[in-house]
Amino acid sequence: MSQQATERAHGHYIGGEWTNGDGSTFASENPATGETLATFQRGTEADVDAALAAADAAFEEWRDKSYIDRAEHLWDIYHELRDRHEELGEIVSKESGKEISEGKADVTEAWHMVEWAAGNARHPHGDVVPSEVAGKDSYMRRKPRGVVGCITPWNFPVAIPFWHMAIALVEGNTVVWKPAEQTPWCGQIVAEMFEDAGIPDGVFNMVQGFGDAGAAITDDERVDTVLFTGSAEVGHGIGDKVGGEPGKLAACEMGGKNGIVITEHADMDTAIHAAIMSSFKTTGQRCVSSERLIVHEDVYDEFKARFVDVAENVTVGDPLAEDTFMGPAIEADHVEKIRSYNDLAREEGANVLVDRFDLEDSEIPDGHEGGHWVGPFVYEIDYDPDLRCLNEECFGPHVALLEYSGDIERAVEMHNATPYGLAGAIISEDYRQLNYFRDHAEVGLAYANLPCIGAEVQLPFGGVKKSGNGYPSAREAIEAVTERTAWTMNNAEEIEMAQGLSADIKTSED
Ligand code: UN1
Repeated sequence: MSQQATERAHGHYIGGEWTNGDGSTFASENPATGETLATFQRGTEADVDAALAAADAAFEEWRDKSYIDRAEHLWDIYHELRDRHEELGEIVSKESGKEISEGKADVTEAWHMVEWAAGNARHPHGDVVPSEVAGKDSYMRRKPRGVVGCITPWNFPVAIPFWHMAIALVEGNTVVWKPAEQTPWCGQIVAEMFEDAGIPDGVFNMVQGFGDAGAAITDDERVDTVLFTGSAEVGHGIGDKVGGEPGKLAACEMGGKNGIVITEHADMDTAIHAAIMSSFKTTGQRCVSSERLIVHEDVYDEFKARFVDVAENVTVGDPLAEDTFMGPAIEADHVEKIRSYNDLAREEGANVLVDRFDLEDSEIPDGHEGGHWVGPFVYEIDYDPDLRCLNEECFGPHVALLEYSGDIERAVEMHNATPYGLAGAIISEDYRQLNYFRDHAEVGLAYANLPCIGAEVQLPFGGVKKSGNGYPSAREAIEAVTERTAWTMNNAEEIEMAQGLSADIKTSED
């Protein structure tokens, strides 16, 4: 399936075959127009069962191949992603509503992850570890966990699937993947790439559908690791369930209520640039987007005036137009969620500085009247750590300005006062403040003099507290999809123990 949407309902990819399930279908919608892009089979428990059976059956043979042989399939995909960059970037933009530079960056991030995972196949794995006993050799080996269930979100519909699957597959696992129900077209294309790459039947499987299909994957005992990126609500449900099953692991990367600290020593140009990018890029729909700007009183008025001025003017429009900064929200329900958080802030006492929730008719591009349009919402509010609007993730272009007095310790205390801990940034020219933030901000991804978005795949991606559970995505997904064996071999003829432990066997005959 390429640029043009078709009438046929696209199927699941199970055991090397395209299958149709029970015939119930769902549509993919262009969020900028409301038009249907294509129709897809809606996965059921039976489809998931078939996919898991295929993945289970393919595991033994796949794990026995060398890393380098497994990676060969991924290199084909790497080249296809690069060769089709423009085309796929446009498809991402059409289906997710992300503006075109973000659509293309999504595809770029995908091939970066594939490159990292496939390249890693030729790198040393594990450590050689010295032993106290001269005759012993110890080293670490990794082995695949088995069947990996991958549940991915709509906002990075090409990149995040590869965060999960590129590493899982090169490490020798087989995969059952459910793409987000909002971006099945991207799912279809990724599955076609695996087919084109000749991945052995059953090693990679894709079932389209909704949360019920996802739950059928995560709940099944044949799944050894669940990789999930998405909302905290769903992720915690998966974590709780899977955590109770011995031997099964869930690596969940969830949302954030991310903050940027702007101190009295900030460069204001950097502060404005970083804050606008973090709050409004992707229409605020990254799990790393910032919804709190914590600004020192000495620079508050200047920051506020300049931030408001840009927020009033950032362009919202057709994601495929080069001069668009923000595309639409993903779907109608999400527009309502953003509305409810804007209302909540007002109810909790916000002084609203920018309200472009209902865009002017003139701002909506011709032919896009059916799109899910929202613009920036900026407010200031007297700080109270218990306010819901400062603790709950809106996942939209909705951001609070919070004024602080005092030192960096106070700013970081406010920064940390949320249940989440995914990403954060500090803007300051003072290295002591930067280092204090680096060491005390409760986040998995911390930035200085940068937006809090835009992580590269060779870094671990994940959070602390409510944002994640310690098995981050991107590079560090390797921890979640492998088990380590600490292997020790004796080269001597006698057994000699470490720690001074006696190796003598004492019997009544002695
Ligand atoms: C997400 O926020 O949902 O760090 C993923 C970034 C991207 C990934 C974001 N590399 O902004």
